[in-house]
Amino acid sequence: MKQSAQTIQIQKMAVFGLLALLCLCMGCVKEQKELHPITIISPPGFPAMEQSVSELNITSEGVALGRRLFYDKQLSADVSTSCGTCHEQRAAFGTFEHDRSHGVFNSHTLRNAPPLFNLLWQKNYHWDGAYRTLHEEAAQPLTGTIEMGMRFDQIKSYLENDASYREGFKKVFGTWFIRPELITRAISQFTATFISANSKYDRVKQGREQFDNFEQSGYQLFQSKCATCHPEPLFTDQSYRNIGLTVDPSLNDLGRFRITGDRTDSLKFKVPSLRNVAATSNYMHDGRFATIQQCIRHYRYGVQSSSTVDPSVSNGITLTDTEEYNLIQFLKCLTDSSFLNDKRLARPN
Ligand code: HEC
Ligand code: HEC
Repeated sequence: MKQSAQTIQIQKMAVFGLLALLCLCMGCVKEQKELHPITIISPPGFPAMEQSVSELNITSEGVALGRRLFYDKQLSADVSTSCGTCHEQRAAFGTFEHDRSHGVFNSHTLRNAPPLFNLLWQKNYHWDGAYRTLHEEAAQPLTGTIEMGMRFDQIKSYLENDASYREGFKKVFGTWFIRPELITRAISQFTATFISANSKYDRVKQGREQFDNFEQSGYQLFQSKCATCHPEPLFTDQSYRNIGLTVDPSLNDLGRFRITGDRTDSLKFKVPSLRNVAATSNYMHDGRFATIQQCIRHYRYGVQSSSTVDPSVSNGITLTDTEEYNLIQFLKCLTDSSFLNDKRLARPN
């Protein structure tokens, strides 16, 4: 049968269209293939992760983008503050030797910036557990008036005006539209890779090193006096407790009560991990103590009674000076210097 010129034309167009579509699809596939997934390996002895790592979809490209965002001061209203300003690597991503951190326009945070590591094993974030997931948490400091003080439309226009950011987002998320959620997801891919499990303590557990006598005695004391709330291997049970710190009337911080509204949660704060504790001064939710010894002295002599104080510390924790010394020697074994010096986590050049 003879086809009209017009039908042939239409057939040709259809074939071209199909080819073009195929190329486009292959392009997509190729782009997806260019992403390099990162598998997070659970350190020996760690429990199951609390956060969904598959949902985060961690790739080395996403981590690189998140790393750049984490250290970018342009994401703050007066170009003074990045996540990395308050979360410093040398302090295991807490604020180095500061009670509370400085944010934009010389503001002060209400609480001490917690160190950041092993975040995928955490159930909730913040001292009062206000956030459930890492990327929900990351939105708070970007827009918080005492942290970085930005609006998302400002951040978005800054990122969209930067070709390498634009391409970075396109590569990682397959879209030119930079939504707030993508910004916090990229940052969370980076912070999710902060894993710390290579301290002397870990090496001793793996039979690769040994404690000296002081450290060994400190370890035993730790297990009998501290491990109910700070259990291995995370060194926190992730519960909220009141350890009887005096209340600072200028802050009047009621802790977990703020979230639950339940009176029995008044003055309870999340039990912090003690990994890297020798590097994370200052201590406690408001950074009131500068040394580990002051923290231990609190348990020995400083516990204030109140209706919500934890029964296990309400009468204080009895220790001799020698025991206190040994305990500190053990706590120093929780420092993971490979983590504190890991170049992959440092400010990019
Ligand atoms: C001005 C200082 C400051 C800046 C900037 C800042 N943070 Fe924080 N961060 C804090 C403080 C303080 C807390 C504790 C808040 C609380 O408990 O109420 C915190 C808590 C966190 C936590 C929860 C940790 C835990 O163990 O509960 C994460 C995660 C975190 N910040 C990530 C970030 C990221 C990501 C950025 C950048 C987008 C950022 N922070 C910017 C001070 C800061
Ligand atoms: C009843 C549970 C409980 C017990 C027992 C306990 N802790 Fe704590 N610990 C906490 C809580 C909760 C905090 C945070 C309190 C706050 O900031 O309000 C904390 C904070 C700390 C801090 C400060 C860490 C930081 O990053 O700010 C250190 C150090 C510490 N504890 C060491 C110890 C040692 C050593 C022992 C044993 C002698 C011990 N703890 C026993 C619950 C406990």
